[in-house]
Amino acid sequence: MTYRIPEDNINTQPFMEKLPDFNRPTELMRTDKVYEAVITNIVQLTEMVKLFHVQITDPVEAKLFSFLPGQFVMVELPGFGEVPISISSSTSRKGHVGLCIRKAGKVTHMLHKAQLNTKIGLRGPFGTHFPMKKMIGHNVLLIAGGLGLAPLRAPIFWINEHRSEYKDVTILYGTKTPKDILFDYQFEMWSKIYDNDIHLIVEKPDKNWKHKTGMITDLFKEVTIDPVNTYAIVCGPPVMFKFVCSHLNKIGVPMDRMFVDLERRMHCGMGKCCRCMVGSTFTCEDGPVMDFWTVMNLKEAI
Ligand SMILES: Cc1cc2nc3c(=O)[nH]c(=O)nc-3n(C[C@H](O)[C@H](O)[C@H](O)COP(=O)(O)OP(=O)(O)OC[C@H]3O[C@@H](n4cnc5c(N)ncnc54)[C@H](O)[C@@H]3O)c2cc1C
Ligand code: FES
Repeated sequence: MTYRIPEDNINTQPFMEKLPDFNRPTELMRTDKVYEAVITNIVQLTEMVKLFHVQITDPVEAKLFSFLPGQFVMVELPGFGEVPISISSSTSRKGHVGLCIRKAGKVTHMLHKAQLNTKIGLRGPFGTHFPMKKMIGHNVLLIAGGLGLAPLRAPIFWINEHRSEYKDVTILYGTKTPKDILFDYQFEMWSKIYDNDIHLIVEKPDKNWKHKTGMITDLFKEVTIDPVNTYAIVCGPPVMFKFVCSHLNKIGVPMDRMFVDLERRMHCGMGKCCRCMVGSTFTCEDGPVMDFWTVMNLKEAI
């Protein structure tokens, strides 16, 4: 017996909002490369989060490796796997990469067990970056929730190293409890030396907590934002940046002047495996940094 397939009814087109850009530029030669690196220092920031100072071993490669604030690397722990991690250090320290890593699953648990001098591999840097040059001459509002301060550190270092180019710099940082606050040892330097206006808030304070209590959006009552002259960088869980960006938009900050860090599960980091796709967008290449207007126009992005 022969079966006849009703060809007219077969949908041969995959469902996509719009076709991907098949002529997208690629830098496979560079991004396929694994930089051999070594862990030179480990700082326990909270119970679940450690900051790893990593140095690229080869001095020539160390000079060649450069990144921009907001980009990430694929961190390989040989034998265990590879994970995408935002670079949480200054762009000016050649060959040095700061990685702030929370214990989540298999690879990050093993990374937390790593000792000084452990060899790791770095691929990248990958992804889009915060438009630091566009922000010159404007106020910059940096808003982080929880681990979101990790990707925010690179733009903070950048602004502070070029401080005279930017106007008012305000940092709003919120966590669940005071114990979850990261990098508190740097706040004094950022505010006193670099004139950053820092505001902290937690949802559940303890008896020693001297700052505000509530949600990150409650900090908006503490600051004056000039919507016409402000760029915003927002890092944290998607639910947080949805509320934060909607508030900023309501007071007049245009959606394309707010930048968020959109994280998805990733495998290759360079537009090959499709693991990170949202609609027809590769979050590893078209992101993780995107303006809020673009994010709002991506189906299922948040
Ligand atoms: C661009 C980018 C930058 C990142 N930067 C950092 C960073 O600076 N510091 C940091 O600690 N983590 C960061 N992450 C998240 C980190 O990559 C994951 O926590 C890590 O891949 C988990 O791997 P694992 O093998 O330890 O856990 P797995 O065993 O793979 O997973 C453990 C749990 O984590 C969840 N998970 C895994 N990956 C992600 C993800 N990408 N987003 C949300 N949930 C996830 C899984 O669903 C599962 O519930 C970033 C992710 C991306 C995409
Ligand atoms: S992670 Fe492979 S395509 Fe984005």
